[in-house]
Amino acid sequence: MKIAVTGKGGVGKTTLTALMAQCYVDAGKQVLAVDADPSPCLAGALGFPDEIRARLHPISEMDELIEERTGAKPGTTGGFFALNPRVDDIPDRFSVEFRGVRLLEMGSVDTGGSGCICPEAAMLKTLFVNLMFRKDEVLLLDMYAGVEHLGRATVDFVDAMLIVVEPTRRSLGTASQIKNLANDIGLTRLYLVGNKVRNQEEVGFLNAYSPDLPVLGFLPADLAVQEADRLGIPVYDHVPSLRKATEDLIQNLKL
Ligand SMILES: Nc1ncnc2c1ncn2[C@@H]1O[C@H](COP(=O)(O)OP(=O)(O)OP(=O)(O)O)[C@@H](O)[C@H]1O
Ligand SMILES: [Mg+2]
Repeated sequence: MKIAVTGKGGVGKTTLTALMAQCYVDAGKQVLAVDADPSPCLAGALGFPDEIRARLHPISEMDELIEERTGAKPGTTGGFFALNPRVDDIPDRFSVEFRGVRLLEMGSVDTGGSGCICPEAAMLKTLFVNLMFRKDEVLLLDMYAGVEHLGRATVDFVDAMLIVVEPTRRSLGTASQIKNLANDIGLTRLYLVGNKVRNQEEVGFLNAYSPDLPVLGFLPADLAVQEADRLGIPVYDHVPSLRKATEDLIQNLKL
């Protein structure tokens, strides 16, 4: 099962991804969580201790590995390099595990806005496609606003893309843009998740202004979420209301 999580900055993508990862482990599933945000923070949300995090390195920063596999030094453009490097061993070799959740960090690629392809971008692109062929596990992708990582080659494999929104017009506007981008590449299994919802009025607002997408569920605004962050405890452990809401959400997904 492959689930991508996206949405405007700060809406709660990482919080939701971490909650879902732990809920799926509880349900007896194998889970691979992939941090595809250029500034990764899923490890923190999952409560990975420092000694395990020290072993976690973003794939895009593994210069030697990238050179070995693509035949070119990262940071170079022009020259020749493999567009389809070997990546099948990477998820297992470079992920770390804590409390049943395996975690992989993709890292960022600076293409200088030109959209041109460099060795590290070729590596990540191939890795994303490769992840789609993994079986017997739940794959959770914590992305940023957009579908950049999900090229046309991957859309058939994505069972659901969750677009997280807050009860604000701005986050709904971003959701609508993401929906259009997703539809452009043929990705259709899209769902809205309302986060930081305080009352029925806000539920009504999200339902009314949803960009014509099924609403999978709502997660309450809870000050204990920030407290969990301050204390360095996963939301899953510290905030029962969000854990319960995530369990309900997974039920509604019925994958
Ligand atoms: N249900 C909630 N109630 C209260 N605060 C929340 C809730 N969900 C998330 N937050 C807070 O909102 C902030 C953003 O959450 P999070 O990092 O999960 O969002 P994000 O979408 O991953 O952000 P980014 O775009 O920076 O990656 C955090 O400070 C988090 O503690
Ligand atoms: Mg995030």
